[in-house]
Amino acid sequence: MTTLSEQIASEVARRRTFAIISHPDAGKTTLTEKLLLYSGMLRTAGMVRARKHAQTTMSDWMALEQERGISITASAMQFVYKDAVINLLDTPGHQDFSEDTYRTLTAADCAVMVLDAAKGVEAQTRKLFAVCRLRGIPVITFINKLDLPAREPLDLLHEVEEVLGIASSPVNWPVGLGRAFVGVVDLTTHEVLRFRRSDQGGAQRAAMEHIALEDLASDPGTEPETVTKVREDMELLEGAGNKFDRAAFLAGKVTPVFFGSALTNFGVEPFFDALVSLAPAPKPTTIIRGAGEQSEVAPTDTTFTAFVFKIQSNMNPKHRDSMAFVRICSGRFERDMPVHHSRLDKDIRLSRSFTVMARDRDTVDYAYPGDIVGLTNPGIFALGDTISTAKEPVSVPPLPRFAPELVARIRPLDVMRKKAFDKGIEQLSAEGTIHLLYPYESPASNPMIAAVGQLQFEVCQYRLEDEYNVKVELTPLSYSQCFYLDGDPATFKRTQNAALAKDRFGKVLVLFSQEWERDYMAKHNPSHAFLPMAA
Ligand code: G4P
Repeated sequence: MTTLSEQIASEVARRRTFAIISHPDAGKTTLTEKLLLYSGMLRTAGMVRARKHAQTTMSDWMALEQERGISITASAMQFVYKDAVINLLDTPGHQDFSEDTYRTLTAADCAVMVLDAAKGVEAQTRKLFAVCRLRGIPVITFINKLDLPAREPLDLLHEVEEVLGIASSPVNWPVGLGRAFVGVVDLTTHEVLRFRRSDQGGAQRAAMEHIALEDLASDPGTEPETVTKVREDMELLEGAGNKFDRAAFLAGKVTPVFFGSALTNFGVEPFFDALVSLAPAPKPTTIIRGAGEQSEVAPTDTTFTAFVFKIQSNMNPKHRDSMAFVRICSGRFERDMPVHHSRLDKDIRLSRSFTVMARDRDTVDYAYPGDIVGLTNPGIFALGDTISTAKEPVSVPPLPRFAPELVARIRPLDVMRKKAFDKGIEQLSAEGTIHLLYPYESPASNPMIAAVGQLQFEVCQYRLEDEYNVKVELTPLSYSQCFYLDGDPATFKRTQNAALAKDRFGKVLVLFSQEWERDYMAKHNPSHAFLPMAA
């Protein structure tokens, strides 16, 4: 008979928890869909993108978020690929949501970076990659759209190294580019994986054949120029290519690179196979025990620990409620289990727990480290909360917040909708979509919202209308800097333009717009201090 700890260990070994990062349009949706196709979750591909394109308004992100059918837009998806249990986390692609992305990546053990072969490293890739680097997680690169005119592969690798500052190590190499693209050479075995398009243009798996590199010249579909080019490239790589080093990859110092076309499925299966073999299984998590000493909890520890990395309201119009997503760090989750909620110092029972896939919620009975579980949140969970069966209270180091740079006054257009408005902004703020601030001197007057980027405001406005039926007016304010104020607000001397505010938890903030104001206020308030909102 296997013990609980052995069972946890064998489940942990199968888990791969990752997120896909990319610049919009590089192919994240298509690749995700193909992962579902090759996992047997979808019989034909094409649906997810079709739905995405049915939306004509708003940004891609919102169109995606709006359409919560079977899609990558679920906050997390779980499925089995061959023997591996995949937990795929959704990261919003837009830079305004870097904070959200960061939080999501705290729940991921690895990231897949998708690049468009014609465009290389784009602006959003850079920002998302920077977040991965900050988190120190390994990154696997998939260079997509090789079936279209593409840049020279060596050029692309060089750009990854120059722009992102990470060594790149190609695992396979494209055979032909654009129309001539027929497959990839495995750089370890020197075997060509030759693909053939399926009749339904990518909706079904592509047939794959193994050909020895020496025999490529006799393959009828491969152009002679392609054969020559691949040979030349191989020679160049012999001398120049970085050899793959697993330890350096796990340390985030080198990214293995794969080539393919998500649309036609060329190179997709070898990439997925390599992904599950390269991506690490869940690792120990740093936790803070009782009085504040940091230690690590191994995933195989039988003590259950999990933390809240995402809160989402109104996931499903049929269930107008809030959901807290936890990542399991150690032990085994069992439905209905009693746990200790560290922040509230309270014992609770996890009776309403779900895996979220599509609109349907599947009740989970057991879950293991690396897994994501959605818990119905009757207002008891906040971002960064920890639940555990440990004897002493445990918590995870605080999730970082990015300092907001935009502030606006917000008010419901119809005063009769004030109650729904209050609920809506509270919930959106609990999710971390926006910061909710109340004027310090007149807390009952219209609140303010603060965000890193304009899109967060648009999403907030849109969701208040869509989910809470409240139309709002936003009046931009000139503040661009927000700091927590340490010290007595009553004796704080501020510049004429600066304002004081309180956040949802009653912490006092000072808002202003110019750098000189900060120097001025610091000088005139020696017994006060400005504490950054970003951690
Ligand atoms: P995203 O989630 O990263 O934003 O990208 P998405 O997968 O939606 O792909 C963006 C566009 O690029 C889509 O085309 C998609 O079909 C196309 N695409 C993705 N991967 C490949 C590939 O490997 N080869 C080629 N040729 N195209 C690819 P679209 O025109 O915007 O949509 P659709 O009309 O094709 O649905």
